[in-house]
Amino acid sequence: MFFKRIQEDIDSFMARDPAARSRLEVVLCYPGFHAIIFYRLSSALWRRRLRLLARLISQFARLLTAIEIHPGATIGARFVIDHGFGVVIGETSEIGDDVTLYQGVTLGGIAPSVDSHTQVDIKRHPTLRNGVIVGAGAQVLGPITIGEGARIGANAVVSRDLPKGVTAVGIPAHPVMPRDRMAAQRFVAYGTPAEGCPDPVLATIETMRAQMSALQNRIGELEARLCEAGSSADDDARDLRADAHDGIPMSTPMAAVGDHRRR
Ligand SMILES: CC(C)(COP(=O)(O)OP(=O)(O)OC[C@H]1O[C@@H](n2cnc3c(N)ncnc32)[C@H](O)[C@@H]1OP(=O)(O)O)[C@@H](O)C(=O)NCCC(=O)NCCS
Repeated sequence: MFFKRIQEDIDSFMARDPAARSRLEVVLCYPGFHAIIFYRLSSALWRRRLRLLARLISQFARLLTAIEIHPGATIGARFVIDHGFGVVIGETSEIGDDVTLYQGVTLGGIAPSVDSHTQVDIKRHPTLRNGVIVGAGAQVLGPITIGEGARIGANAVVSRDLPKGVTAVGIPAHPVMPRDRMAAQRFVAYGTPAEGCPDPVLATIETMRAQMSALQNRIGELEARLCEAGSSADDDARDLRADAHDGIPMSTPMAAVGDHRRR
């Protein structure tokens, strides 16, 4: 199991970093990969309640890689930390499968120093669902959930839940939806789909504008048809009045007018 996970991790670096030329290069030159190996070891010790030893291994890994992953964090398969310098992953973080982080990312608590004794063993770090990408320098804070396949822009600060598939940027992070939802489901190196990611509010306004213009056209058509129907009915009525004037009883032509209108 341990070695299968490691193999998958190497494959994930190959798949997600355009700069990775070979598996050997990943094994030798990727601090993110080294940090993950140390994490898998320290996490196994943490779960066996060898907590101090687990922390020592995690601190040694931090010394080597400048990536700090608390052994109590839960991390799924095919995890990639690209570059990785300055990444901090807190104790109660939960990370799904196929997640990618870049350098300088924090998965942290909102205020760990305030009443810290009341926060012991309480969930205070984020949960990242499968396929999440977190851009360089982003800070994801609090026991929030980042939905499956969501992307967090470089240097964003996220302290609220993000729904599935959303791209969020800025401080505080606000969501912007990718134009092509299929593209959001595929991994894109650096989390950047080529098509850009338009604002969902703008997209909704555009849709409403298109619907309003379709409705305006339809109303115009109906008005024109109503006018046509009205003018031909007026013509018929005029003819019938002329016939009545020539001696035909009124009751017959009025019924005929009614029939014509119904038709
Ligand atoms: C968030 C991200 C995935 C969006 O990429 P994209 O889909 O190509 O989006 P675009 O570049 O078209 O940007 C869409 C809008 O969001 C803005 N935007 C994009 N990224 C942003 C960020 N990190 N912070 C603030 N605004 C950002 C753009 O300026 C643009 O706004 P505009 O329409 O007003 O001009 C990408 O910009 C990003 O931050 N990726 C992380 C990359 C990273 O960490 N790389 C490190 C590699 S070493």
